[in-house]
Amino acid sequence: MTEIGVGIVGMGTVGEGACGILTRNVESIARQAGCQVRLACVADLRRDELRSRVPAEVRFVEDAAELIRSPDVQIVCELIGGTRAAGEVVRQAMAAGKHVVTANKELLAKHGPELLSLADQQGVDFYFEASVGGGIPIISPLRIGLAGNRIQKIVGIVNGTTNYILTQMAAEGGDLADVLKEAQQLGYAEADPTNDVEGYDARYKLTILATLGFHACVDVDDIYCEGIMKLQSRDVDYARELGYEVKLLAIAKRVDGGLEARVHPALVPFSHPLAAVAGVNNAIFVTGDAVGDVMFYGPGAGSLAAGSAVVGDVIEIARNIRCGATGRLKPIEFRDLDLVSTGESVARYYVRMLVKDASGVLAAIATEFGLHNVSIASLVQKDASEGVAEIIFLTHEVKERGMRAALECIEGLSVVEQVCSMIRVEE
Ligand code: NAP
Ligand code: HSE
Repeated sequence: MTEIGVGIVGMGTVGEGACGILTRNVESIARQAGCQVRLACVADLRRDELRSRVPAEVRFVEDAAELIRSPDVQIVCELIGGTRAAGEVVRQAMAAGKHVVTANKELLAKHGPELLSLADQQGVDFYFEASVGGGIPIISPLRIGLAGNRIQKIVGIVNGTTNYILTQMAAEGGDLADVLKEAQQLGYAEADPTNDVEGYDARYKLTILATLGFHACVDVDDIYCEGIMKLQSRDVDYARELGYEVKLLAIAKRVDGGLEARVHPALVPFSHPLAAVAGVNNAIFVTGDAVGDVMFYGPGAGSLAAGSAVVGDVIEIARNIRCGATGRLKPIEFRDLDLVSTGESVARYYVRMLVKDASGVLAAIATEFGLHNVSIASLVQKDASEGVAEIIFLTHEVKERGMRAALECIEGLSVVEQVCSMIRVEE
């Protein structure tokens, strides 16, 4: 075989990055694949607008079905996003015997097992390195390099947009909405940033990581998810005064009774490597019983970063085609591993509240904490003006159920004006 043809469906941020790499690094790609890997065709609904971004010798069509039918396309890269049209493209491509690369975490989180089985039935390859961590290799390490381990824990910063927003808020202060606009202009945020800021994007990625890492069929809707929209810049500032960065974490870990999986903002101590992950970078910490801790770090979003992961998959598939070894990565045999309810999860907490600046107030609050077995590790009183004081508590470890019950009672106390924030602390 002297040449393998690639088709890209969706010439947006990632499509353009992948197109640029495939056309720029032709020689190096050919050396690694053992044959020429040629971008043969691109499909995008906005063909006329985008034609100039693709070399003239590459065919540009509007209809993905036409690309899939093309005899000179063996590998189809689905870079559209969403689940409806993207799902059709992936299924049609597989049905036509084409190998598929996707960057689409939503599609994988919602339909991953079905698509892996379809690929297996059709004897085609299905790769998705760009779906988690942008340019960071993490799917391939979980499938191959770490396969000998019993994975204990995966903790990651897996959304570049929110990490960029939190980094900017910590460094320069500023309004969340303004920083989000910047992230969109830089191509990090999805077209609809709801998925980023509400934590859904991180939840899709955690579904993929947990499924691969724990060989468990994790339902995306069962994962607890809390985004960053409720975070206030004063919490980011206070956290820093106390020696913590605020990060949106995706966490999956083995616990008694099953698997815990959750996405939420958390205070991470300065001394933890995840605290130093700034801007659009992502990092994923994996703890295996044999290897111990390993961390994968790098650009989590952006055109060339995600394009790099897509092209890596293309090259691996080209090697497989050349060696007659496609379809060799079998779908995982899933086993039952129940997701433990979040009420049972144990963490330390940062709590900020506004209370009346009067005697006996702290005692009343401490009593409620005590009644719910919440042990206070430290407290700081910030401003006290016009009869209202702002207090921050750091607790020892407690079950979330107990913490929530305590705060419900505390909110009901006449001396408490408002419980403003409750953020978990990950040590
Ligand atoms: P994007 O910039 O919105 O690009 C998607 C492109 O696909 C758009 O040009 C869109 O055209 C086109 N399109 C939509 N439906 C189509 C169809 N039926 N046939 C052909 N073209 C179609 O999205 P993106 O940021 O590149 O993301 C693509 C995928 O990669 C998503 O699954 C995303 O989650 C994932 N991803 C993104 C990043 C990142 O940094 N952006 C990183 C890793 C993974 P219209 O604009 O006209 O709809
Ligand atoms: N919007 C995503 C992010 C793109 O910000 O991480 C990468 O998947």
